[in-house]
Amino acid sequence: MFDISKMEIVNFKSFMGEHEFDFPDTPGLYLIVGENLIETRLGANGVGKTSLLDAMHWCVYGTTPGGLRAGDVVNWWGAKGCMVRSYLDLPDAQPIITRTQSPNSLTIYDPEVDDEPQPATQEEVNELVRLTGDAFLHSIMIPHGEDMFFDLKPTAKLKLFSDIMDLEYWNTKSEVAKKETSLLDGVIDEITQNLSRLKGIRNTLKDQILKLTPQAKAFERDKKSSIRGLKEDIIKAKKSGRKDDDKLAGLEGEINAIENAIQSIRSDKEMVEKATASMKAKRSEASTEVRVIENDLEHLRNELEPLTRLKGTCPLCKQPIDKLHLEKQRKRVSNKIEAKKKDQFDETVLINNLDTKIGTERRELAKLSEEAEKYHKQKKDRVTIITKIESAVQVAREKVKQLEIRLEGERTRTNPYRETIKSNEDEVVSVNEEITEDTTELSECETERELTSFWIQGFKKVRLYLIEETIKQLEIEVNNNLVQLGLIDWHIEFDIERENKTGGVTTGFSVMIWPPNKDEPVRWEAWSGGEKQRLRVAGTLGFSNLILDRLGLVSGIEFIDEFSKHLSPEGIDDILETLHQRAYSEGKKIWIVDHQSVTFGGFAGILNVTKDSEGSHLNYERATDGE
Ligand SMILES: Nc1ncnc2c1ncn2[C@@H]1O[C@H](COP(=O)(O)OP(=O)(O)OP(=O)(O)O)[C@@H](O)[C@H]1O
Ligand SMILES: [Mg+2]
Repeated sequence: MFDISKMEIVNFKSFMGEHEFDFPDTPGLYLIVGENLIETRLGANGVGKTSLLDAMHWCVYGTTPGGLRAGDVVNWWGAKGCMVRSYLDLPDAQPIITRTQSPNSLTIYDPEVDDEPQPATQEEVNELVRLTGDAFLHSIMIPHGEDMFFDLKPTAKLKLFSDIMDLEYWNTKSEVAKKETSLLDGVIDEITQNLSRLKGIRNTLKDQILKLTPQAKAFERDKKSSIRGLKEDIIKAKKSGRKDDDKLAGLEGEINAIENAIQSIRSDKEMVEKATASMKAKRSEASTEVRVIENDLEHLRNELEPLTRLKGTCPLCKQPIDKLHLEKQRKRVSNKIEAKKKDQFDETVLINNLDTKIGTERRELAKLSEEAEKYHKQKKDRVTIITKIESAVQVAREKVKQLEIRLEGERTRTNPYRETIKSNEDEVVSVNEEITEDTTELSECETERELTSFWIQGFKKVRLYLIEETIKQLEIEVNNNLVQLGLIDWHIEFDIERENKTGGVTTGFSVMIWPPNKDEPVRWEAWSGGEKQRLRVAGTLGFSNLILDRLGLVSGIEFIDEFSKHLSPEGIDDILETLHQRAYSEGKKIWIVDHQSVTFGGFAGILNVTKDSEGSHLNYERATDGE
């Protein structure tokens, strides 16, 4: 709901000083009349009726409907600045809009929301009110007389109609769709080019893969054979190593056997040496025995010799020698000598035997030493061989190690062709992904382009549809008003584009009026002032409804300035009756401004504007007999 409940005016145009007016809130038809107390000859003219409406328009839009702004609206009689405050009643808020001139300011104050008035821009006010200045002047405040909708030139009508219907929106939309389409064409072009570039890259990559594949295979073959060769070399080297190990084991066995032999020779030698030593000891004992025996023999011989020489008397005892006894003595000594000799012989034989044995043992010993010497030499020879073999084994091990390093190197040697193939394949995959993405995007863009290009015409069709529908609605509204305004059987039609007399197309909002019993429409200029006024009021009221309806707004108030121009008393009555009915059927407060004395009895209230030396004054009078 758009409504205005109160106005405060300070030094605006003919309103000198401070004034305020509370608009009644009862639906009905209200009259604004006036009395000029300074220039009485002017009657109701020049008193400030229009100025009141100007104040409201200026407050909300910054100009009067006639285009006055800034210093022109400040009261001439000594005021420095002016102020108008409008208390609005809007669908979602009840803002108070205050505009001042010198200093200039514009504020919106919503006591429900704000602590104090908030500075505002004109755009913010327009947004709040949801009506442009033009729409306001053709729906809520119809300014005086001949500037009504029908009075406008066809092009101006079309412009106003377009603005209010926001028809340009659809053209803009169509333009946007056109731009979008051409942008999409560009994108489609770009994607198509990119796709062919990507496909080119993919082909090149695939060609390279095809070329590199045999080279990669050859590399693998070489590698395999080289690995095989190295493995064989390693096996050979290891085998020869094992042979050497066997040899070493054999040699070590031999050395052990040799050492055992040496050991046994050593123990043989010890035995022989022991035996020799014991024989030597025995021989020495026998030699000693022989010397003892020889000594004994010496003694015995010495004992025997005197016995042999004794004859007659004993030299010692000087007694005659007993021959028998002597013989016996001789025999005993000789026997002893014989026994000793036998012992001597035996001992000599023993010595000789021992000497023979010692000699044999010595030879045996010499033989054993010789044998031992032979084994030592054999051992030495084998040790020399072992050293040689061990060094060969070392060399072979080193060789195996080197071969294994080479084998590992060969195994891990990467195939450069394979790598290039792999990287090419990876790239093919990523190029394929890009191709898939681009293909999807392309198809999306093409679908979008199809849709968008559809809307180039689509939005224009919507626009035309809206125009047709709106015009139909307007025709119905206006034709209904015609009947109420006494133009029975009259008929009005509207058109946006019409063929003109020269066959061209006139773009403009044309109004065609058929009076009763006429087959052809008659030009606007052909109608009388009163007829025109009826027609323009019918058109204006219809157009006002259309505007509010299209904007989804309902207005609780309407102002029509100078409605009765050119009208006969019947005409005035017809219009007042129409407005009266409109006020009640639509629940509006309709304020009409007039300077003629009006006899209509159905006013709900009358606002008297008087002007004296202190400027204009407002006096409201609620009609007692009004409905
Ligand atoms: N800035 C101003 N300061 C003081 N008076 C002004 C100013 N601007 C216009 N006026 C005068 O204010 C008076 C009221 O004019 P207004 O248009 O409101 O008259 P009106 O009551 O609508 O008369 P009419 O019936 O002729 O349309 C006029 O005499 C006009 O010359
Ligand atoms: Mg006026």
